[in-house]
Amino acid sequence: MTARLPALILALAAACWIGLLRVAAAQEPVHAHHAPAQARMLISPLELTEEDLTAGSAAYRNACARCHGADGKGGVARRSSAPAPSDLTSPDYRRHADGELFWVISEGIADSGMPAFKTTLDDRARWQLVAHLRQLGGVRLSLAAAPAGSSYVWDLPPGLPRPKVPADNPMSDAKVQLGRHLFYDTRLSIDGTFSCATCHQQARAFADEKARGVGVTGEVHPRGSMGLGNVAYSPVLTWANPTQRRLESQALVPMFGEDPVELGLSGQEGALLARLRAEPRYRQLFAAAFPDVADAFTLDAITRAIASFERTLLTGRSPYDRFRLGQDANAISPLARQGEALFFSERTECFHCHGGFNFTETADYAGKGFIEIEFHNTGLYNVDGQGSYPAPNTGIMAITEDEEDMGKFKAPSLRNIAVTAPYMHDGSIATLAEVIEHYAAGGRSIADGPNKGIGATSPRRSSFVKPIDLTPEEKRALVAFLESLTDQTFLTDPRFSSPWPASAP
Ligand code: HEC
Ligand code: HEC
Ligand code: HEC
Repeated sequence: MTARLPALILALAAACWIGLLRVAAAQEPVHAHHAPAQARMLISPLELTEEDLTAGSAAYRNACARCHGADGKGGVARRSSAPAPSDLTSPDYRRHADGELFWVISEGIADSGMPAFKTTLDDRARWQLVAHLRQLGGVRLSLAAAPAGSSYVWDLPPGLPRPKVPADNPMSDAKVQLGRHLFYDTRLSIDGTFSCATCHQQARAFADEKARGVGVTGEVHPRGSMGLGNVAYSPVLTWANPTQRRLESQALVPMFGEDPVELGLSGQEGALLARLRAEPRYRQLFAAAFPDVADAFTLDAITRAIASFERTLLTGRSPYDRFRLGQDANAISPLARQGEALFFSERTECFHCHGGFNFTETADYAGKGFIEIEFHNTGLYNVDGQGSYPAPNTGIMAITEDEEDMGKFKAPSLRNIAVTAPYMHDGSIATLAEVIEHYAAGGRSIADGPNKGIGATSPRRSSFVKPIDLTPEEKRALVAFLESLTDQTFLTDPRFSSPWPASAP
């Protein structure tokens, strides 16, 4: 696939660039000041083709250029009118979510020269404009790969976009079925006792109950297992690894990793394939999933099938979704609604990092041209007054070796968060109420022991994490809101459960 490499470079460049912006912006958060925070939930229905870009550019020339200038910089009007038409190439726009731009174009800005276009341009045209604005901002968009003859039918929860699928691993029902069998198969571990599902359990939204993962040899992983709901939308995988981008390659880590040992298959590739060959079900499953090859029993086939299964683990049918999509105004309690307002407010800033349809800003999907990949330090530790985290969990600094990256982790999706306790990368917070206390304090304080320190004074902490003066009721409201994000159908959907008889394999 040709689009991947440029997209990766683009994303990495954007990540560095956003880092610079952060520094430049100091304590002032940059974001769309006109659109409500919920606008971030809006997602483009476009698959983004060359025609969309051409149409977006034409619509811009017709409807926008006279004020914003052909180049987006504001042109002549910028000097003459007040307030001046915004410079649409300004770095600030990199921080705007697509949905916020869409909202501004649709609704306009009251008491300024920015008109509303929702009656003159249809939805499609306004999304094409959003794509054009991204390009004006210097972002090179990757166009949707041709569907490559894939006839796969997604069962998308309402309001969720179609996941992006790598061109070299198109979806098929047969592959998903094979992947499901492998995900639940204990033959994927050295002694036949562990599978992916040991640490990724459906009833816990595919996380587990342990603070940190425990592998087949009893070795404790430095970090906790992560929920896999909507992992298909995650452009970067695991807690803090900017280079881990593909589900296909991520699956190799638990299988063959030696530091730490998870499934313990290092050096066991041949034995693993022999064990799988001996299972009658697999003869049919592998052949159906990979009909074009003479012998489908390969490691490559295993990881592709597992990744295909993981991409089907879609979740979006929580009470809050029913509420936000207008299906049921009483789906969540008044307390949860109060929590929703707080979550999306500048007072708490939660939505800056956990915004969007998947409750994480780090989300990607078919047709989205621009991937935002960010990692943050939430002030969970400050062991030396310089903002340090206890080794080896120093966040992406472990990979980038940049001091600035100390303690920066991925903001995980908050969907189904009520069933994935304990919390944070190392499972060091037991309950959601305590997570709220951590944020309310502007960082966690640890009174004694080796990790002693006051998170709120960490110089490495994100500027979005600062003390919040919350009443006890407001804290309960935030918890009630988080609890309304649990999708019970996902936790019990038989399509995601073990396909093996209870006694085997
Ligand atoms: C009649 C002049 C005019 C036209 C036409 C116009 N704009 Fe604007 N636009 C403005 C002005 C003035 C502002 C600044 C408003 C403010 O800061 O209060 C603005 C602001 C914006 C913003 C920034 C909002 C923010 O959150 O800061 C965006 C995005 C935008 N315009 C996009 C567009 C697009 C896309 C079109 C064409 C469909 C368009 N505008 C057409 C005058 C115009
Ligand atoms: C011993 C427990 C354990 C086993 C077994 C295990 N995992 Fe994990 N999984 C984890 C931990 C711990 C993390 C976080 C890793 C990190 O941050 O380095 C994780 C992270 C992940 C992620 C990243 C999720 C995200 O949101 O970024 C995926 C995907 C994943 N595992 C898939 C699998 C698959 C597929 C298997 C089986 C081949 C598997 N895991 C087996 C513990 C486990
Ligand atoms: C600056 C970005 C940022 C802000 C603002 C933020 N979070 Fe987080 N959140 C993160 C990151 C990063 C993590 C993982 C941190 C870690 O493990 O060290 C996290 C973790 C969490 C977790 C635990 C997730 C899990 O799977 O264990 C919850 C719950 C949570 N945040 C809720 C909130 C709430 C509620 C707010 C607002 C009060 C908020 N967050 C504000 C970035 C942020």
